[in-house]
Amino acid sequence: MIKHLWAAALTASLLAGAAAPAAAAPRKAPAKAPGKAALSPDARAAALVAKMTPEEKLILVYGYFSTDFPSKKFTAPPEGRPGSAGYVPGIPRLGIPPQWQTDAGIGVATQGGAVKKRERTALPSGLATTATWNPELAFAGGAMIGNEARNSGFNVMLAGGVDLMREPRNGRNFEYGGEDPLLAGTMVGAQIAGIQSNHIISTVKHYAVNDQETDRNAGNSILDQSAMRTSDLLAFQFAIERSNPGSVMCSYNRVNGDFACENDFLLNQVLRKDWKWPGYVMSDWGATHSTAKAANAGLDQESGAPFDDVPYFAQPLKDALANGTVSAAQLDLMVTRIVRSMAAHGLLDHPVAESRIDYAAHAVVTRQDAEEGAVLLRNKQALLPLSRSTKRIAVIGGHADKGVLTGGGSSLVYPIGGNAVPGIVPTSWPGPIMYYPSSPMAEIAKLAPGAKVSYASGDDPAEAAALAKDSDVVIVFATSWAGESFDVPLGLPGYQDALISTVAAANPKTVVVLETGGPVLTPWADQVGSVLAAWYPGTAGGAAIANLLFGKVNPSGHLPASFPKSAEQLPHPAAPNAGDTIYAEGATVGYKWYDMKGLEPQFPFGHGLSYTSFGYSGLAASPAGSGLSVRFTVRNTGKVAGKAVPQIYVARKGWEAPKRLGAFSKVALAPGASRAVTVTVDPRLLATWDESAHAWRIAPGAYDVMLAASSRDIKQTVTVQVAARTLPVGWRP
Ligand code: BGC
Repeated sequence: MIKHLWAAALTASLLAGAAAPAAAAPRKAPAKAPGKAALSPDARAAALVAKMTPEEKLILVYGYFSTDFPSKKFTAPPEGRPGSAGYVPGIPRLGIPPQWQTDAGIGVATQGGAVKKRERTALPSGLATTATWNPELAFAGGAMIGNEARNSGFNVMLAGGVDLMREPRNGRNFEYGGEDPLLAGTMVGAQIAGIQSNHIISTVKHYAVNDQETDRNAGNSILDQSAMRTSDLLAFQFAIERSNPGSVMCSYNRVNGDFACENDFLLNQVLRKDWKWPGYVMSDWGATHSTAKAANAGLDQESGAPFDDVPYFAQPLKDALANGTVSAAQLDLMVTRIVRSMAAHGLLDHPVAESRIDYAAHAVVTRQDAEEGAVLLRNKQALLPLSRSTKRIAVIGGHADKGVLTGGGSSLVYPIGGNAVPGIVPTSWPGPIMYYPSSPMAEIAKLAPGAKVSYASGDDPAEAAALAKDSDVVIVFATSWAGESFDVPLGLPGYQDALISTVAAANPKTVVVLETGGPVLTPWADQVGSVLAAWYPGTAGGAAIANLLFGKVNPSGHLPASFPKSAEQLPHPAAPNAGDTIYAEGATVGYKWYDMKGLEPQFPFGHGLSYTSFGYSGLAASPAGSGLSVRFTVRNTGKVAGKAVPQIYVARKGWEAPKRLGAFSKVALAPGASRAVTVTVDPRLLATWDESAHAWRIAPGAYDVMLAASSRDIKQTVTVQVAARTLPVGWRP
């Protein structure tokens, strides 16, 4: 029952002419649409929409929150999945199932305080997965959480965050793919493709330039359109091309004045006209602000009633159709896009139902992701890996005796076993602050069976220093909780910087393990032996960290974002502001900014150490297709097996930055082994956007092609001659 008055009236009026009221819809998916699988998704959608009544069409474009919202006097529709993000009724007589929507990028989330939690597997944060630089792993992680979504009764996953990291203090960076369009688009795209391999829809989000949380419901991102095409939009473009997501979620913010969900440039022009993407746009929960303007600008589905102040689709859309401000043809287009995606991604033919989940197998997937995503930032005198015969190990801080931290907000996945450290405020939205019950300390003890492993909380620095002095090695866990709806400080919160310095002074054999949403300041980096960025490592994070510390797994993560030395190095040194944010730096984001300004970051984009060493040689590049073919050889020159991340940067004067990431690979090598690798550089990464020609332009002449181990560790450079070329706006590989 929907108790809120407007919602009740609306539902009644909408359903008056519909064949089957939502309240009577079955809990399980209806029978699949009969015998149409041979038709194309377009043909199926057209045939189904032709059979719909106007009221049925209006049902499909209006979604409900599927969780009670007491402060808005909203009760979740009974046909939804309790404690989930969304529910859109289906049309049983046409074989169109409801859309049961769940968050998000690390797994099946649960919303709301009072509801019974779905305890599920959580991947490491999106940023951690990106740090693997391994699209196959991202696909496997996506396939795993998509399987949990399907087996939890969901057919739409609100997953695949690809907002570019312009602001390291953005509270949602952990949900995204870092600062480079190619890396972010490739990795997030692979994850979405994995999710959708389960015959469900995934939703790439939050479109677009939603790069901070401060003033998130009204803030205005001001960014030149050409710069947008080569930065934030390019990340979305790559992700969409690689995954063909059924849906795009438009974001809360304004972009150049217009709200993203009623932004003709973003929705009609770029997504549909330029990119020819055939799916449907759903609004973020509370991001719709109008009826005719939004519908005509390209919004297809208003999500999450009652998050919007008033409903904009449903009855107001019915009124707009009656008074002609929205045409019947526009509504048909909106509904057709929704049904087309449902047909294209298997929702009509593969009904979802709750069924058994193989948590043991899924724990392996999340652990491997965490292991490959952790980045060894520093390792002085090979302090790591630790010997298994170490006698006295001090573990300090970060609740490492209990578990590992994760991020807050709508993406929060509840783990099997519940919160390892309950009660830390905030205990409700955007909390609870959640530690997954995978204790690094317990896992460390397992790998060093003869050791005395002692814990100090770090609350008393003197006690921690005394323990450090009395130990052979010290492992400090430093944490920074980030989440939706707030931005975070650049530095580690509280007295953790001082604690690390104090402990390192007592024992230089100090390893710092960072559990953070994104880059943080590390002013103590030179005082400690090793630093491992473990991000938010997911529900098997404790085991992953221990495996890395002891060399059971060789670190192979590389930074998807630069770690600054200080806030002064950032394009916007001051903390994020409300109102207008003018991105005057344009497409010069992340490492491009540091390169352009000649700044030395603390740890550069692409950086990541290993317990082995790699040799890079034989770089050759030649034009191929519209882009480049680049060949080189990587050799494992050390004593243990490991995985290298060779990176190809391309450069030409006159760009927004001295160089751009053009391609990358992840290469597993036994000691002494070598591999010849060929990668291609997408021609758009050699081009600039020509606004007047509405096309990509490649200037003729010499381009530098660099083979690198990080954006600041170039091993070899060759020059290649490239012919002039114009690529149409819709060009895709
Ligand atoms: C978030 C989205 C999420 C939605 C539904 C919003 O608050 O911004 O990412 O998918 O809620 O839970």
